[in-house]
Amino acid sequence: MPASATPASATENSRFLKTLRGEPADRTPIWLMRQAGRYMPEYRALREHHTMLESIHSPELSAEITMQPMEAFDLDAAIIFSDILPPLAGMGLDLDFIKGVGPRLGNPVRSRRDIDALRTPPMAEVMGGTLGAIRLVREALDTRGIPLIGFSGAPFTLASYAIEGGGSKSYVNAKGLMYSDPDAWHVLMSKLVIVVSDYLASQVAAGAQVLQLFDSWAGALGRLDYERYAQPYTRRVLASALATGVPVIHFSTGTGAYLESIAAAGPTAVGVDFHTPLDEAWARIGMDRVIMGNLDPVLLHAPWEVLHRGADDVLARAGGRAGHIFNVGHGIIPETPVDNVRRLVDHVHAATARPGSTA
Ligand code: CP3
Repeated sequence: MPASATPASATENSRFLKTLRGEPADRTPIWLMRQAGRYMPEYRALREHHTMLESIHSPELSAEITMQPMEAFDLDAAIIFSDILPPLAGMGLDLDFIKGVGPRLGNPVRSRRDIDALRTPPMAEVMGGTLGAIRLVREALDTRGIPLIGFSGAPFTLASYAIEGGGSKSYVNAKGLMYSDPDAWHVLMSKLVIVVSDYLASQVAAGAQVLQLFDSWAGALGRLDYERYAQPYTRRVLASALATGVPVIHFSTGTGAYLESIAAAGPTAVGVDFHTPLDEAWARIGMDRVIMGNLDPVLLHAPWEVLHRGADDVLARAGGRAGHIFNVGHGIIPETPVDNVRRLVDHVHAATARPGSTA
């Protein structure tokens, strides 16, 4: 770093933020969804002594977990350690993470009365631990010139969790309410727009330099229902998130049939799952957009030769163009060998080095 450069300007010129601006960078940036998690021995060791909720709500623990993969690998961005569901607890839902099962909401919303009872408290009150963690992590990352991503679930995915109470195959309760009582659906989604917008803005105020909106369950909807019941709310969240001045990535899964509609919701960058080849996805969202993706995370569990080929295929489809952020097409699985993560990160950097270019 030149002596005159401040940490803030080093981060502004990082390959991740340059790529999000559509500018060429010295290498293709890479980070990995769920880069902090169970595949790391450091994470498992810490979680032996602390529950998921403790780890999320303690600024120190959350910051420590966020930094674990940053110490282990040459990643180009950190993502604050939390989950998409704790804001729902602040709205009045009983959230727990059950070992070996996943998240559960004990009192899911099933009626207009349940929806009317949901609160929309300031997220600074509910998610103070995460905001504190963001401040701590920024101190650690600024000296390295690496940006920090804040995130939230998108209204549709959060509404589905709030209604189903946990995972679902058919989304019979969520879609049942959506189809049978569109007014109640509108009230629920409007409350989520308030909470999610406030949460994202609070994360930027605390120091997040990029935001990501996860609409992991959007693929439960066909295109026309997505456009009618989900996209208008996502559009409002994205507009308010962009108004904070930071770039926003919109990631969804199972939405290959209508990536155009995902892009039309208005994010800076579109995160695509691994079902659609990257070049095809990029052509469909528009080559002027920034794209993130999209290695099948299970390839990280494969022998290096196979993983290497998979990574090279994604890179070939990106064609060395500016505006590609390398990532997995859904979160890293717990069975992933740590060494494969290290080799993948280093390989993406080595394979995309652009001579003559500085960061
Ligand atoms: O990417 C990161 O490293 C940041 C942390 C993060 C977590 N969850 C930690 C987590 C993020 C960004 C999420 C988002 C999230 N959470 C999503 C959207 C992305 C996606 O994967 O689709 C969803 C749908 C959830 C809800 C959730 N949380 C589920 C379904 C599960 C159980 C499945 C699983 O992997 O265990 C969780 C638990 C969870 N969230 C864990 C972690 C590290 C595992 C908790 C543990 O250690 O047991």
